[in-house]
Amino acid sequence: MGVSGGIAAYKACELLRRLTESGHDVTVVPTAAALEFVGAPTWAALSGKPVHTDVWSDVHQVPHVRIGQTADLVVVAPATADLMAKAAHGLADDLLTTTLLTARCPVVLAPAMHTEMWEHASTRANVATLRSRGVLVVEPAEGRLTGADTGKGRLPDPSEIFEVCTDVLARGATASLDLAGRHVVVSAGGTREPLDPVRFLGNRSSGRQGYALARAAAARGADVTLVAANVELPDPAGVKVVRVETTAQLHDAVVGAAVSADAVVMAAAPADFRPTGVSGAKIKKAGDGSAPTITLVQNADILHELSTRRARPGSVVVGFAAETGDDTGSVLDLARAKLARKGCDLLVVNDVSGGAVFGSPDNEAVILGADGAVREVPRSTKTALAHVIWDEVVHRLVPGSGPGFAP
Ligand code: CTP
Repeated sequence: MGVSGGIAAYKACELLRRLTESGHDVTVVPTAAALEFVGAPTWAALSGKPVHTDVWSDVHQVPHVRIGQTADLVVVAPATADLMAKAAHGLADDLLTTTLLTARCPVVLAPAMHTEMWEHASTRANVATLRSRGVLVVEPAEGRLTGADTGKGRLPDPSEIFEVCTDVLARGATASLDLAGRHVVVSAGGTREPLDPVRFLGNRSSGRQGYALARAAAARGADVTLVAANVELPDPAGVKVVRVETTAQLHDAVVGAAVSADAVVMAAAPADFRPTGVSGAKIKKAGDGSAPTITLVQNADILHELSTRRARPGSVVVGFAAETGDDTGSVLDLARAKLARKGCDLLVVNDVSGGAVFGSPDNEAVILGADGAVREVPRSTKTALAHVIWDEVVHRLVPGSGPGFAP
């Protein structure tokens, strides 16, 4: 774990803690500037190992070569503009930059800096160079920076950088950035349709599968927009999160983001209906014991609409279907009919007859393709299912330019 000289170095202590507590053997390599923010004793105590910044300590063990050569992953958090400039140009004047030159394992950089530095043409070029070489450069988050100012450049939450590291480590040698240069849109969560200022019609979707899809896409190098409806989960690292409440808002956010997208995955559970009107005042009980009548109107079917908005061959639309069989057909019969009705390329089918999927960390599914493909995914984590879904998307994407979907 490399640490370069930014104030966010203090957050790397939390990342280190998570890595060691989950059983990883971590060597911390701070730059001299990083030690101005957090001292060597902190890194040594948390990692249980000696800490060096230059190449002149323990020279007989050749640490400037050995650390990079023996690592399964190199993560640098925070990665400053200066560190990325050195890495992009192959400079090697301390232990961290020599480690980056000798590492042949996956490399994850989590940049943190002021917005102006992140947006500067030099940094843009260095990030592009590093990404073109297969380095996973995580997009910084937006929010409060060092001073009172806010903007893009914040280090993502350490727990989310940890998730990226775990994902890359789990995929090991197969951890390719096969979604690099792609923009994908994922929807997650359940929409709420207000009835009055305090009540709404909603559903139990937790948003976990959509968040797992967004995380997995970011770990494969995609530019990810996550449209989240009422989800109480932390923002995934490197993902642009747009928060919405109703199906109409979800529709506008997804359709708007889809214009520049190569693929859209509708993992959200949008309410199919909304009340015809929202009461301005809280709905009161009538004195005579009668119940109010609530009239509903149908919302747009976003998945179906996206399928009709494809602007070029090779932009991929993925839907989800939570199904139970009935006397008209089995789960798969009904799912095949839904795939045809929605017009999407892939439909991820969950059999919810047992009612087990909602809120659970696991999922099992069958992925149906409009091309007739059928892929069964046995019970596994939502992350593992997310990667299988992206595998199916990746080999359907056709390189192309121009808008993926009509505005
Ligand atoms: N979906 C959508 N817009 C809606 C409702 C659902 O885009 N208004 C998407 C969901 O995100 C999911 C897929 O459609 O990807 C399947 O949702 P489901 O509720 O099973 O579809 P319905 O249209 O409600 O199916 P049915 O005809 O069975 O009511």
